[in-house]
Amino acid sequence: MQERVRDLRRVFDAEIAAARDAGALAALKGRWLGRKDGLLTVLLRDLREVGPADRAASGRAVNDLKQHVEGSVASAAEALARPGPGIALLPPLELSLPGRRLPPGAPHPLAQVRGRIEETFLEMGFALAEGPEVETDHYNFTALNIPPHHPARDAQDTFYVEGGLLLRTHTSPVQIRTMERQRPPIKMVAIGKVFRRDPFDATHAPMFHQVEGLVVAEGIAFSHLKGTLERFCRRVLRDDVRLRLRPSYFPFVEPGAEYDVSCVFCDGGGCGRCKGSGWIELGGTGMVHPAVFEGVGIDPERYTGFAFGLGIERIAMLTLGIDDIRLFFENDHRFLGQFPG
Ligand code: FA5
Repeated sequence: MQERVRDLRRVFDAEIAAARDAGALAALKGRWLGRKDGLLTVLLRDLREVGPADRAASGRAVNDLKQHVEGSVASAAEALARPGPGIALLPPLELSLPGRRLPPGAPHPLAQVRGRIEETFLEMGFALAEGPEVETDHYNFTALNIPPHHPARDAQDTFYVEGGLLLRTHTSPVQIRTMERQRPPIKMVAIGKVFRRDPFDATHAPMFHQVEGLVVAEGIAFSHLKGTLERFCRRVLRDDVRLRLRPSYFPFVEPGAEYDVSCVFCDGGGCGRCKGSGWIELGGTGMVHPAVFEGVGIDPERYTGFAFGLGIERIAMLTLGIDDIRLFFENDHRFLGQFPG
């Protein structure tokens, strides 16, 4: 009897290993544990025939097998009911649906406008120059003909760093660094961050971006300045904008001017964006001051030049139709997502 039990156990183990689905398991369970003629019921019935000497040991063997069969069937049923980890993670696969696309990222709107400005100047034959954001007083002010205590410093209050350094208030120091490094002819633009102790309101930020331009050669005249700015504004804004120059004062240029473009929202008629004037201010410009040339060892009798500066945020507000500069810095996806590039 005990040998028969051992054989049956081997058969059962092989059968349960092969039962891969609920149907096969149910059939196996009926065959082994069925009340009327399941293999174990038959075994228990046959136990009565075993002689008294073997009966106790055979009874234990049959009971062991019964427990083994019941336990194995129960855990196999549980394993089949529980989905495997791979299955649980995958939703039902619908092959005919279009794939889910990840939304593509895009450069920040300011970076997009900066790229367009850079491209336009490169097409116009300008080279790119760079300068540090943490500057010395000399490059930011003194070399630009703004000595200590000059009232022009008040218009550009900044953040001072230990060791007499400061966060540059404009990109104009790159003019000086370029002229110290390179002899004329010079035709460069520098683009980068600048800092001012300005209020953070709809049109001002304490950190913003400027573009600086400098052209120095023999025979450079004010007409070159005007033509260059007009061409740039028409390429970047709209090909029918008009340029206006208003006399203004910057210590490092003479004569100096601020330049405006006709309002792109009302075509110069006057609206809320241009405060009814029909013009929008873009930046400052002028002919390089002879004192600046002398400071960097360029002969002002032989060379002339012009320089200009403009704020990228202001251009971006015009081209993208934005009325509050703070939107650029809040990094709200509802705003940024409107500029897919
Ligand atoms: C200057 O910074 C001069 N360096 C420009 C210049 C260069 C003049 C070369 C002559 C020759 P201004 O302070 O006006 O100038 O600033 C230039 C432009 O920067 C402004 O027209 C405006 O577009 C922008 N800007 C100034 N302050 C802010 C601010 N707080 N937030 C955003 N944009 C600003």
